Amino acid sequence: MTFSEKLLDWWDVHGRKDLPWQHPRTAYRVWVSEIMLQQTQVKTVIPYFDRFISRFPDIESLSAASTDEVLALWSGLGYYARARNLLKTAIICKKDHTAKLPQTPKELLALPGIGESTANAIYSQAHNQPAVILDGNVKRVLARYLAVDGWPGKAQVHQQLWTTAEKLLPKERGADYTQAIMDLGATLCTRTKPVCTQCPVRQSCKAFKSGTVDLFPARRPKLKISKKSFQMLILTDSEGNVLLERRPPAGIWGGLWSLPADDDVQPVQQRLGLATDSLRKLPELEHQLTHIKMTIQPLIAHIEVLTRGVECSGDQRWFGQHEWQALGLPKPVRQLLETHLENSET
Ligand code: ADE
Repeated sequence: MTFSEKLLDWWDVHGRKDLPWQHPRTAYRVWVSEIMLQQTQVKTVIPYFDRFISRFPDIESLSAASTDEVLALWSGLGYYARARNLLKTAIICKKDHTAKLPQTPKELLALPGIGESTANAIYSQAHNQPAVILDGNVKRVLARYLAVDGWPGKAQVHQQLWTTAEKLLPKERGADYTQAIMDLGATLCTRTKPVCTQCPVRQSCKAFKSGTVDLFPARRPKLKISKKSFQMLILTDSEGNVLLERRPPAGIWGGLWSLPADDDVQPVQQRLGLATDSLRKLPELEHQLTHIKMTIQPLIAHIEVLTRGVECSGDQRWFGQHEWQALGLPKPVRQLLETHLENSET
């Protein structure tokens, strides 16, 4: 039996067949799920997926949404560029593809937020076609099965995995095969403590046969983590509003509403023209992004509506409690507002 035959036989018995995007397995639903699953685990994604699909059941409804509403439904999933790209793609599909996702991987690849592997994952699942996918789980399965040396994030290793993955594809049951190889990686061929005794392809797995499963895939070379310290200002007015600023489109939290923070030039209170004696320091907060360790010094200040010295520029706005609660905010910003403002209107 071939790799794909053994894998599909195993999946028929043990695979996941009750994921919400499998019923019905439409291109739209598969696309939304694949974007959510790009950096996030299945069990985290499921409630977000259900809420998203209830609010936006198709491209038509999504393409008419505001960025802020899409971000609000994404709030907590992280990697917010994914949400902005989802909306951009919906708008393009509405305009250029009669409010449907195009079918071929090549056309899918041309859309914002869809890379090679995601294009193929959508194509194979939505249209039941065999196509190579290489998400983290699948890379691990194949690196072990074929004992591929090197870190899969490296272009040459990635290419080698892609080429071998093509040779293993079945002719039929493309959608089930895609799900099967992801399920194998998620349930048996796990990063730590893989359950090789139950694996349907262990007899032809190079790493298993040579007792080197632990050595594959090779680890990512150590990431350099940089440190960043800045102040963040919670400025409230006597009506319980808080001042937020939209972040520049590129960089950390690009395009999200956030509390005013130091830019590279000036302390935040100086930039907003506040007197230093009106500020109170709150306990420091640490927040880790993939490669940045942030130390945030929160400051709080209060001003009267009538004497508001701070006038809004284009990227600033005062938000009431119900308004900011509905935004997609960076995690530490939400944490600060919830800790220090939650009961301001009661
Ligand atoms: N990761 C990406 N796509 C997935 C899927 N369809 N099922 C489980 N994990 C996934």
